[in-house]
Amino acid sequence: MRQALVIGNWKMNGSLQQSSELLHTIDSAINDKISAEIGVCVPFVYIDLARRVLGSSKLKTGAQTLSEFKSGAYTGEVSADMLTEFDCHWVLVGHSERRQLFSEKNAALVLKVIAAQKAGLTPVYCVGETEAEYKAGDRFKVIDGQLQGLLTNKEVDLKMLVLAYEPVWAIGTGMTASPEDAQEVHAFIRELIKNKAESTADKIRILYGGSVNANNAASLFVQQDIDGGLIGGASLDAKAFISICQKA
Ligand code: 13P
Repeated sequence: MRQALVIGNWKMNGSLQQSSELLHTIDSAINDKISAEIGVCVPFVYIDLARRVLGSSKLKTGAQTLSEFKSGAYTGEVSADMLTEFDCHWVLVGHSERRQLFSEKNAALVLKVIAAQKAGLTPVYCVGETEAEYKAGDRFKVIDGQLQGLLTNKEVDLKMLVLAYEPVWAIGTGMTASPEDAQEVHAFIRELIKNKAESTADKIRILYGGSVNANNAASLFVQQDIDGGLIGGASLDAKAFISICQKA
């Protein structure tokens, strides 16, 4: 049985005051009725704030990316060890915005996953096709390509990994994949894992992301291979985010 997981991705939003209020509000609304595991990936500069506000809360902090390098002359980068020093638990790797806007490639993303795991972080590795790839009927091929390097690398610990399917055309557009459509892709991803690591395939959590909100969350989460959500816009609204967490 896989425990449901909901992670908010704040992206590059908020201010110190807004972040503090949002963390306090979400944290105080989390109670025993929420059985899902919950995380929030905040901008680097608010990670220490999250650490101080959340303490030992059920709500765990995450980062939105990390460096594949351990330390050294890499201006602007943040290492896995630095993140664990601030009690980070999660880290997103290969979000489509990192792939598209910052040219991050699969080979480097696999190194980021390995660096994260070595430091004790749990990486959330994101995959998903663009609208053009979807329309061309290429989405399974694209997702396969994004996952092969990861699944075949012996240094990657599949037991310490979360995957997220985020169709690029659904991110921030209000156009969610239908539950059946998303389930088909999630089942495909699980099958890919099964081919490489039969025993872990049923244990790996695969999140769906892309315009998830309080109204559509339940119909997505009820699907057999959808184990929770990676939430963008709606994670900036405490009420909507908590409502999504309750549905998981
Ligand atoms: P939205 O929920 O705003 O569509 O963003 C999804 C996402 O990119 C989460 O990582």
